[in-house]
Amino acid sequence: MGMHCVCVCRVSDSKKKRLEKKEKKGKVKPSKSKSSSVNGSTNDVNGLAVEVEEELGLNDRSTTGVLTSHPQSRDIHFESFTLLFHGHELLQDSKLELNYGRRYGLLGPNGCGKSTLLKALGAREVDIPEHIDIYFLDREIAASDMTALEAVMSVDAERTKLEKEAEYLMNKEGPEVEARMEDIYERLDALESDMAEVRAASILHGLGFDKEMQAKKTRDFSGGWRMRISLARALFVEPTFLILDEPTNHLDLEACVWLEDTLKKWKRILLLVSHSQDFLNGVCTNIIHMHQKKLNYYSGMFVDVRSRCEKGGCGGDANFSLSSARRINRVLHLLKKLLLERLASDS
Ligand SMILES: Nc1ncnc2c1ncn2[C@@H]1O[C@H](COP(=O)(O)OP(=O)(O)O)[C@@H](O)[C@H]1O
Ligand SMILES: [Mg+2]
Repeated sequence: MGMHCVCVCRVSDSKKKRLEKKEKKGKVKPSKSKSSSVNGSTNDVNGLAVEVEEELGLNDRSTTGVLTSHPQSRDIHFESFTLLFHGHELLQDSKLELNYGRRYGLLGPNGCGKSTLLKALGAREVDIPEHIDIYFLDREIAASDMTALEAVMSVDAERTKLEKEAEYLMNKEGPEVEARMEDIYERLDALESDMAEVRAASILHGLGFDKEMQAKKTRDFSGGWRMRISLARALFVEPTFLILDEPTNHLDLEACVWLEDTLKKWKRILLLVSHSQDFLNGVCTNIIHMHQKKLNYYSGMFVDVRSRCEKGGCGGDANFSLSSARRINRVLHLLKKLLLERLASDS
């Protein structure tokens, strides 16, 4: 209980397979890395604050649901999904259906409980199978002496742990040590440790950090920029199930465009809340509309869903003009194209 901010099990598919093979051969004991471990930010002040909050009962949330997808499946299906917050029913006997490879935009009026739902899922308050690693982003990284680049890379707790162990074993001798070293390097290979820094730097670059900023301490950044670092961590981890609450809030247009471009290539499960129609249109394959304590599912574009809503499908609370939405979308698309061209010629 208590770990609500982020739950990450950083085990890549290929590595998992290798480990499984080895376990069968009796070479490695099933280690912690097989179960859902928690990333480096557990130690962060923010993580701690959340835990204290939970301990003191400030989080008055209750989430129930029956898992109907196969426990080994990469899809997540729940029936009888109910979400209570401070005695209010936000969802009642609804269906939660998230399929692997889909990107869901969660819509609903202010205060209907979108953020509460994301938090409940991020905290695994219902029994999401352990093999599905979750990263939930809703707060900025704590201010510390770590540089932005280090902060992004440190999220990869598994890799960090292995590198520390390798360093420690460097001066030791013996057949077990060698076997263990071989093991560690093999696993690090699988985690592409050489590429890690390049990858972290490229994510930060996309989110607006030049080389100099990447080397700056997190404590020297404003909250908004530390939020960007958190976002970079989330993208760096590449969890099976990524949950983002208003990720564009702290971004300028250029970073929004980069993020949209990155997320639209997301191959796993993405659940996203955003007030930006254009962003949702660009990223999402499916829309979930939270309405009258139920989750309604639509595939396709946001504008499309809105028009179906307007025809009465989900209560007609869509009070905006479709033609102006389309016009805005067209302008934004043009802008986006221009920016992408500029980004491409910059790098
Ligand atoms: N501390 C609190 N005590 C009681 N109710 C709260 C508290 N915080 C938020 N709420 C209520 O919980 C509901 C869900 O909020 P939230 O999940 O933030 O909605 P959304 O993200 O869809 O705007 C809202 O109706 C809000 O008024
Ligand atoms: Mg919200």
